[in-house]
Amino acid sequence: MLNHRLLNVPKKPKKFVKAAIEFLNRHAKNKKVFCALSGGIDSSAAYLLLKEAKINTIPVFIDHGLMRIIKGIEEREYIQKLFPDVRVVDIRKEFLPKIYGEGDAENKRKLFKAAYSEIISKIIREEKCDLLADGTILPDIEESFGVKISDLKETMSLEEEKDLMQKHIEGFVKSQHNVEIEYDVEATIQPVASLTKHEVRKILEYFNMPQELIYRKAFPGPALSARIVGPVTEENLIFEKKVHDFIESSVEKYYQERYGKLMIINKDDEQEPFQVFAAISEKVLNKKVTGLVGGKRIYDLPLCEKGDWDYKKLIEKASKLEGYARILYELGSNSEGKYDVLIRSINSKDARTATVTELPIDLLKALTQKLLSFTHTKNVYFDVTPKPPATIEYV
Ligand code: XMP
Repeated sequence: MLNHRLLNVPKKPKKFVKAAIEFLNRHAKNKKVFCALSGGIDSSAAYLLLKEAKINTIPVFIDHGLMRIIKGIEEREYIQKLFPDVRVVDIRKEFLPKIYGEGDAENKRKLFKAAYSEIISKIIREEKCDLLADGTILPDIEESFGVKISDLKETMSLEEEKDLMQKHIEGFVKSQHNVEIEYDVEATIQPVASLTKHEVRKILEYFNMPQELIYRKAFPGPALSARIVGPVTEENLIFEKKVHDFIESSVEKYYQERYGKLMIINKDDEQEPFQVFAAISEKVLNKKVTGLVGGKRIYDLPLCEKGDWDYKKLIEKASKLEGYARILYELGSNSEGKYDVLIRSINSKDARTATVTELPIDLLKALTQKLLSFTHTKNVYFDVTPKPPATIEYV
């Protein structure tokens, strides 16, 4: 299997789109292309480029039941509205029983990978697709290969890439699924491979996409299972969807009202907030969560801080944290309740490093009051740990 990536591109959207159309015609003209849409910005941009180049494409959205709800709208409904030609493949009935009860973070990731590859392979076979298009972007590539994108060629074989990964293993951070899984296609085609997240947003703007999509917050492949610490259950999934939507939508509303935009570029050139969400856990202070030491994921307990709110002091302490994975500032608690809610809001350029969004304490307190009114909420925390020493997600 080969991988075709569009490299050395002009960055201005109009010229980029022209180069992308030429690239797609070079490799995909008269071919049938499978394109998995996740609801995120990268795969949406890849699909819009395929449409613009008039490539015969099958857009597919896999609904496994752990996608987020935003402003009360399920991801599935959102994507159907955005791209009416998308084919929604509903695997909830088969997939959910497999993931329920699985508490190990890596096993959760494996279940997702297996489900994605199984369903994608099935459709590729049934539809006799020649190519698989995806929304891999520049940081994904550099973290997978440990090299600069300028060291890659437009077309490379899987074998060449595995060699390259081995040679640069010290720069390796995480694996991209298409480097590991070989699909039954001639090649993958990656039109946004040389773009950063911010540049992808510019392409969506060029295509006049709605603001909600342009500024859509990144969401991990293992979906809400990455935001439920420990085993996923039918009950905690319902609760997680509710608190996740409440936090993400409320903070977006705050940015819209304050800045007239759902996301800003701050003075450090970060997208603010890059990701904002609620994670849940039972008794989180007794649970090991992920941290980042020397570029590697570690698992350790979180440390709880209470008392006067002092953003700068807390961040400073969290930046130098040792012996714990992160600092959680306690915003409030109920005497009864089952789930701790962790509010996470980070600013970042590309998720490789992140700072904590300086949300006003009045906003955090108002969010806490509402969260405490939900059945099942026990404690509410704001995670004040940058990346490093924490990761963005909790698993
Ligand atoms: P971490 O938690 O490693 O996250 O700081 C960095 C970025 O990657 C996303 N993330 C994932 N994305 N599969 C994915 O597709 C995963 O297993 C995964 N884990 C984390 C995370 O949301 C953040 O944007």
